[in-house]
Amino acid sequence: VNFSPLHQDVVFHGPLTEERAAAIISSLGPLDGQRVLDLGCGWAELLLRTIASSPTATGVGVDLKEIDVEHGRANAARRGLSDRVDLRVGDASTWSGGPVDVVFNTGASHVWGGDPVVHTVNALKNVRALLEPGGRFVFAECFWIREPTEDELAIIPMPRDQYGSLADLVDLAHEHGFRLLALSESSTDEWDHFQFQHALAWERWLLANPDSPDAPEVRAKSDAERTGYLRGWRGVLGYVHLTLVATT
Ligand SMILES: C[S@@+](CC[C@H](N)C(=O)[O-])C[C@H]1O[C@@H](n2cnc3c(N)ncnc32)[C@H](O)[C@@H]1O
Repeated sequence: VNFSPLHQDVVFHGPLTEERAAAIISSLGPLDGQRVLDLGCGWAELLLRTIASSPTATGVGVDLKEIDVEHGRANAARRGLSDRVDLRVGDASTWSGGPVDVVFNTGASHVWGGDPVVHTVNALKNVRALLEPGGRFVFAECFWIREPTEDELAIIPMPRDQYGSLADLVDLAHEHGFRLLALSESSTDEWDHFQFQHALAWERWLLANPDSPDAPEVRAKSDAERTGYLRGWRGVLGYVHLTLVATT
């Protein structure tokens, strides 16, 4: 089944508004001459906006998905950023392109693989190794807004122990060589917008192909996603952008 690519329906690949993105970028302070690396960048919308905010900043983004990287490159070209933003198809966990001033890892702590329960710590350790003291890290990660119930956990597609509370997440960052400069939690509105825009391609496809032999499978997929959200993680799973600074 060929769905339209997600970037046709959403600006950011996650629950994030343009206003919050601007606040996250300004939390980084002056970016003149700085090198920004986005690991698991997708189509790199936050990176592109960051580089556009300073005439001398440069960016590199790495993602496995060619179609997303190509969309990011096209956006960079349209915005006159191609000479300062290098988007590459590849495995971000093996980055060896030298020192950077700022790292982004947003909704992509799984880049380093392993058991989901260690994704957050893996991301903190691997990114800390790429930064000098004073370097900044925008880490967007999930956390539990409140303890999920047994019924909710049965439909949420991740293990309870993958995440802690927001305070646990910030403590974990402090235990791994960072201090918190700012945090910005996505609202339920941002989640609602993202979830239903995300499902739009499936619903549009169902409208156009009601009698297709694939329709039951697509409908089941969309139903599972909607139910998982409304009966599972809506208001339970949070998403936050932490702006961290690497300590000595
Ligand atoms: C939820 S998306 C987030 C994309 C982007 N950071 C954002 O916030 O819009 C997660 C991304 O991680 C990428 N990814 C997963 N494992 C990866 C790896 N080992 N190397 C590079 N990208 C990876 C996926 O291809 C996907 O685009």
